[in-house]
Amino acid sequence: MTRPGEARRRTKRGAWAALCLAACALTADLPASSPAARAQWSAAHETARKMGRGVNILGYDGIWDGGVDAPFKEDYFRRIHATGFRHVRINLHAFKYMDVTNRIQPLVLDRLDWVIGQALRNDLIPVVDEHDFSDCQRLPEACGVKLIAFWKQLSARYAGKYPGLVFEILNEPGGRMTPAWWNFLAATILNDIRVRNPTRTVIVAAINSDDAGEVRTLELPANDPNVIVTVHYYKPMAFTHQGAEWSRKFAKTTGVDWGSAADKQQVTRDFDLIAAWAAGAGCPIYLGEFGVYDRADMDARSRYLSFVAREAERRGWAWAYWQFDHDFALFDSEREQWVRPVLDALIPPASAAPDGKASRF
Ligand code: GLC
Repeated sequence: MTRPGEARRRTKRGAWAALCLAACALTADLPASSPAARAQWSAAHETARKMGRGVNILGYDGIWDGGVDAPFKEDYFRRIHATGFRHVRINLHAFKYMDVTNRIQPLVLDRLDWVIGQALRNDLIPVVDEHDFSDCQRLPEACGVKLIAFWKQLSARYAGKYPGLVFEILNEPGGRMTPAWWNFLAATILNDIRVRNPTRTVIVAAINSDDAGEVRTLELPANDPNVIVTVHYYKPMAFTHQGAEWSRKFAKTTGVDWGSAADKQQVTRDFDLIAAWAAGAGCPIYLGEFGVYDRADMDARSRYLSFVAREAERRGWAWAYWQFDHDFALFDSEREQWVRPVLDALIPPASAAPDGKASRF
């Protein structure tokens, strides 16, 4: 498994002058958010409310390649729901399954159908998240071509099907992608999706960055009532990514604690800023990823996860933990059981009804 380092969280406004000029000209035509439009955002709010608590799944599972090294079992959908989660964010790295004409391998689409079907059968809202952020952050232009092709095919395949299915255009835009380019690309794809999926909820990410204020650079169409905005939260990276082997900066970091008043204030400050922007834009927020790598002290990890999850809930945000298994794990695939302290931090036992339904969502 290769994973990009923490550099992906840096937002570089690079040498994209020509591209940016074109993008700026196009996005300038998008109508700005208005109070009248805001009042119509209820469809997205309703989906976000139903999504409630969720978890990221299948990002690094061999299911997409036909089942080799694929620890995720069919029964896990049932277990995820029974534990109190209400949605799954399906992390699909689709680019590697596209041919030279950008056609997605039919077998991979069949597997995606199966995953979506299993989620729905188990009362979990499926969110299809295109997860090729690493390629996209490095080569925004090539990414744009592939991403547009990807969503054209998914829009056609799921037109009039699975009304509960949610699309998420791209995981963590950023890196060499300027906000103008991203606004242009997201608007283009959203328009394409709307041709055949006029009422589907679509999630659009804010440029991924350590700076919560970056959300302000996102431009949304005023007349689309069914868009949710997503943000991720891993701050501070020295804590959440300590010991992560792929991290150039934090691979050797150990023993970083979390939980002081100042630590908590940082989270509330960042979330307040995002919430204030969302109130103005009239859109719901989805905290699509947060998590702590397995090397951190478990008590500190629990403290962080429960604080972040409760702060998101306090603001009415749906959230998804990063991630079900593999690393940052919520579920121990070898023992086939939940990592209890992580689960309890995310879904406090007191908030789960006896039948496993979380009372809050
Ligand atoms: C990221 C990614 C994910 C990665 C995780 C932890 O934001 O979306 O693929 O593994 O964070 O670093």
